Amino acid sequence: MCGIVGYIGNNDTKEVLLNGLEKLEYRGYDSAGIATSNDEGIQLFKVKGRIANLREKVDNSVQSTMGIGHTRWATHGAPSEENAHPHQSASGRFTIVHNGVIENYYEIRDEYLANVSLKSETDTEIIVQLIEVLNDKNNDVAKSFRQAVALLKGSYALALIDSKDQEKIYVAKNKSPLLVGLGDGFNLVASDAMATLKETDRYVEIHDKEVVIVKRDFVEIQSLDGVAIEREPYTAEIDATDIEKGTYPHFMLKEIDEQPPVIRKIIQEYKDDNDSIKLDQDIRQAMLDSDRVYIIAAGTSYHAGLVGKQLIEKLANVPVEVHIASEFSYNMPLLSEKPLFVFISQSGETADSRSVLVETKKLGHPALTITNVPGSTLSREADFTLHLHAGPEIAVASTKAYTAQIAVLALLAVDTAQAKGIDLSFDPLQELGIVASVMESLTDQKEEFEKLAKEFFTETRNAFYIGRGMDYFVVQEASLKLKEISYIQAEGFAGGELKHGTIALIEEGTPVIALSTQANVNYSIRGNVQEVAARGAKTCVISLEGLEQESDTFVLPHVHELLTPLVSVVPMQLLAYYAALHRDCDVDKPRNLAKSVTVE
Ligand code: M6R
Repeated sequence: MCGIVGYIGNNDTKEVLLNGLEKLEYRGYDSAGIATSNDEGIQLFKVKGRIANLREKVDNSVQSTMGIGHTRWATHGAPSEENAHPHQSASGRFTIVHNGVIENYYEIRDEYLANVSLKSETDTEIIVQLIEVLNDKNNDVAKSFRQAVALLKGSYALALIDSKDQEKIYVAKNKSPLLVGLGDGFNLVASDAMATLKETDRYVEIHDKEVVIVKRDFVEIQSLDGVAIEREPYTAEIDATDIEKGTYPHFMLKEIDEQPPVIRKIIQEYKDDNDSIKLDQDIRQAMLDSDRVYIIAAGTSYHAGLVGKQLIEKLANVPVEVHIASEFSYNMPLLSEKPLFVFISQSGETADSRSVLVETKKLGHPALTITNVPGSTLSREADFTLHLHAGPEIAVASTKAYTAQIAVLALLAVDTAQAKGIDLSFDPLQELGIVASVMESLTDQKEEFEKLAKEFFTETRNAFYIGRGMDYFVVQEASLKLKEISYIQAEGFAGGELKHGTIALIEEGTPVIALSTQANVNYSIRGNVQEVAARGAKTCVISLEGLEQESDTFVLPHVHELLTPLVSVVPMQLLAYYAALHRDCDVDKPRNLAKSVTVE
């Protein structure tokens, strides 16, 4: 959701900015722009739409060795060229890019900017105008920048350039992610390391409410009072080739195919020399010390949390509640005496989850983050982190992160069970190995799911998924996948709930996809399939080997009953992928969506 890139060095900046913005496209955006600075002043290029349009608009004859760029996902004001970033102050001296939402936008406008006529509908413009107003009094840009930042309430990642100074980029952040990249004779600013991996793998974290002055050969971190802060850089552990599509037409398909190796990587990372589970002792202790686990997450990660609850309760006998992050603060449940908060987030940057983390930390409760990005905000701010080891997930629709989250939750559950002396009748690492092979056999049968997608989803406006028990959680994820990338209105229902209302929606030809992988509900879910079929639904049943019936559409090879979501979701992901493909949708960058949702 919005992306920032900045460069200050000795080479021309346009390509670095445009390449960086392309790498941030996956975050979701609807307009983009860059500003470059040279002796002639600031050159500003903005477009509504894709970076490809921006590339066409940028004047290649302009040479400049510093600049800032932005992809905008509209919050205040429609997606348009006027509202696209960068924004400039009234005199044109200052130029800014911003991610986040300024909550005291009206207060600042009324108190400081009564005499300034604003050119856009954005909350961002008030920041750059405020800096100019303050600088007119202070005649000190660094001080005015710090003062302005101190006045802001809300979330922000900012990069500012001054047309009178080609030596500095001013940077600040609160809640929204931003990093400084370190190079040889140049430095960078980026929303995430993926934007600038081509240039460097060395980064410095910026903490909330700090400002950073980025020069060609020096980076100075300061507190809002101007006191210098020392911080060691770190090396980003991302392979640049991981963020390329290779021969795949879409990142989503590549990431679906990467699931078996990701599961094997997780086994390797969490296995000790005796082939037992190896988990951080402190995490084990935190699980043992807690009387209730509260899982907090959004979207697909929330769906993984629903499966995680079953795994932790059934295997480790610890009660678990799963909460939608954006609802938790408003509907906070009565907490147990010794809660452990578990944040599940692919990106580690989801603002809704982060606000719960901030709140529960204030209450003194321990927190564990399960994430694909170890240096992310949720990871840094929690007490413990479990890494998903899934490699960068670029497609907006989450696939390999979901299965990695479930696999790691399964290991957490098993580890806790073993620490409590509970005797499990299976070898979890071996069972996960079987899961990886079964996933592979499913991704090898893509044409089956392509055919089914064509048959079930080419014409339809809506679709229903049904399941019971564990399958109910998977069908919720299946319907989210379908709706977010194919725009088919899809819902995942508990089979038993159909008769309580939803069955009224079934018409002649309505697609209903049923999942049956759980022995205890196999009979009942099949009853639900009969009920919808009798009312004209076009049904597809995906079952597990051992529970299948002759008329089933597809039978999944057998895996341990508690791990079935890891394999049953694969056909669902492929169905959604091919449905979107057949409907000519932008699979990797669905409309209105952002990969990492960094505003509440
Ligand atoms: O990065 P997170 O896991 O915290 O993101 C949560 C959701 O925004 C994310 O899972 C979203 O629902 C995906 N687009 C679903 O495919």
